[in-house]
Amino acid sequence: MRIPIIAGNWKMNTTVAEAESLVREMKPRLEAVAGVERVLCPPFVSLASVAALLRGSSVKLGAQNLYHEDKGAFTGEISPLMLAGLCQYVIVGHSERRKYFGEDNAAVNRKAQAARRAGLVPIVCVGETLAENEAGRTREVIVGQVQGSLAGLEGPLVVAYEPVWAIGTGRAATAAQANATIGLIRRTLAALFGAARAQELPIQYGGSVTGANIAEFIAQPEIDGALVGGASLRAGDFIAIVEQTARLKGVR
Ligand code: PGA
Repeated sequence: MRIPIIAGNWKMNTTVAEAESLVREMKPRLEAVAGVERVLCPPFVSLASVAALLRGSSVKLGAQNLYHEDKGAFTGEISPLMLAGLCQYVIVGHSERRKYFGEDNAAVNRKAQAARRAGLVPIVCVGETLAENEAGRTREVIVGQVQGSLAGLEGPLVVAYEPVWAIGTGRAATAAQANATIGLIRRTLAALFGAARAQELPIQYGGSVTGANIAEFIAQPEIDGALVGGASLRAGDFIAIVEQTARLKGVR
């Protein structure tokens, strides 16, 4: 039985004060929900103060990125060891990292491996661009990203399927499209890790998820939750996403 997981990716939004106030606003309702893993991913600079606000809470904390080395002369980077004391999850290979910061599957794999070594659960993102989708290359791109990004990864991990054309555009994939591609991801995981483990790993959909469309995605058999961008910055919308997920698929 896979426990659904809803993660809020705040991206490069919120000052420390804004992050604290958003967490204070969401925390009571998020904590009241059972049977769904709930994760907030604020910017690095807010992790410490949000961790303090969430101490003892069932709401988990995640970072949005990390570097694959544990320490050293890597000016400006954040290591897995630094995050391990602060949060439980870390997003790796988000399409914005792949696009703007040149991260390829090998770099994403190094980051995911580093996260696992430090005891963090990586949320590994994959997804095809609009051009790849329109050229009929979705299958090939997704299989390549899953194999390249996840090879050799042991222990708990989460995969997020985020078609690039659906991120921040208000144009979500259809639930059936998302379910089909996530099914492909699960078959690819089965080839990598064996069928039993593939059945246990949660796979999220991401891309323009809101309180208004989450139910369609969650109703699909292969979809175990969502990675939410824009709507995770609005307390009411994020709470609605979490509460509907619990109602439809919460594990008791
Ligand atoms: P969005 O972003 O919900 O704003 O489309 C999703 C993501 O990039 O994780």
